[in-house]
Amino acid sequence: MKTVTPLSNEQVDIFSSQEPIVVLHGDIREVIRLLPDNYFQCAVTSPPYWGVRDYGIDGQIGAEPDLDKYIDTLVDVFREVRRVLKPNGTFWLNIGNTYTSGGRKWRQEDEKNKGRAMSYRPPTPPGLKKKDLIGVAWLLALKCQLDGWYLRNDIIWYKPNCQPESVKDRFTVAHEYVFLLTKSERYYFDQEAIKERTTNGNGLKNKRSMWSINTEPCPEAHFAVFPRELVRPCILAGSRPNDVILDPFYGSGTVGIVSKELSRRCVGIELKKEYIEIADKRTSNVQIALTPEVLKTPK
Ligand SMILES: C[S@@+](CC[C@H](N)C(=O)[O-])C[C@H]1O[C@@H](n2cnc3c(N)ncnc32)[C@H](O)[C@@H]1O
Repeated sequence: MKTVTPLSNEQVDIFSSQEPIVVLHGDIREVIRLLPDNYFQCAVTSPPYWGVRDYGIDGQIGAEPDLDKYIDTLVDVFREVRRVLKPNGTFWLNIGNTYTSGGRKWRQEDEKNKGRAMSYRPPTPPGLKKKDLIGVAWLLALKCQLDGWYLRNDIIWYKPNCQPESVKDRFTVAHEYVFLLTKSERYYFDQEAIKERTTNGNGLKNKRSMWSINTEPCPEAHFAVFPRELVRPCILAGSRPNDVILDPFYGSGTVGIVSKELSRRCVGIELKKEYIEIADKRTSNVQIALTPEVLKTPK
């Protein structure tokens, strides 16, 4: 893995080193502007959620006191993602909904989940009430659509092993979304690569829009990493071996791991140096072991 800290106004020569993974260190809002147009076949990401994690670094997205500001920031970032995607490219956006904080100003550290500690909590957005579900995921998806993206699927990521919640008057939230967004009306989509078995097990069918995948612990990172099994179908359907995948919020490098496993190349962008170090450790052990034929066999 190669890490680059680009200077402003410096065009990034991403693959001069022939490394399968290149990580660009810096604020996504500045770094992505240095990338060329129409370069990536596919982008997969999980952005910081609004008011859910404190990454403890200046410039972090997700800590805006104002929900509209958060949504607008991400729509601007994703407009740049659209610019750097090839015209037939796809963008797979994982995001979940949240609840209003009910006036609480901070959240205590949780023994099992240290990343839950928060030194701030965003105020309840105007028009909403204490205990309201904020449809952040849908607000973002619909704004992206209005901004020019084609919104093609709202995939439900169902988490059988979701975190228990101490609530008595609503259901435990056990799902998030993966929105499939495209730059054009027609785009590269390898339906065959991700077909699933029919119920009787005798044949194959088009993959359904509900994916049941357990969350995956990442002992090195004190924050939510998305599971490799969630990223895998996105990359298999959205690219071919050797294509270049982008993750604008790279974190601990899950998209890099899966890209490497599937013989794709990957560019990640990440603000926090410590996470880039974690990602480097996680991706350096990955073997490019499978042939495209093996990869296409559904489980
Ligand atoms: C939900 S995490 C991504 C986790 C990742 N999918 C993984 O599997 O590890 C969001 C990431 O966005 C990063 N981030 C927050 N604000 C950023 C910014 N302004 N520019 C670049 N990265 C940022 C955070 O440091 C964090 O690593």
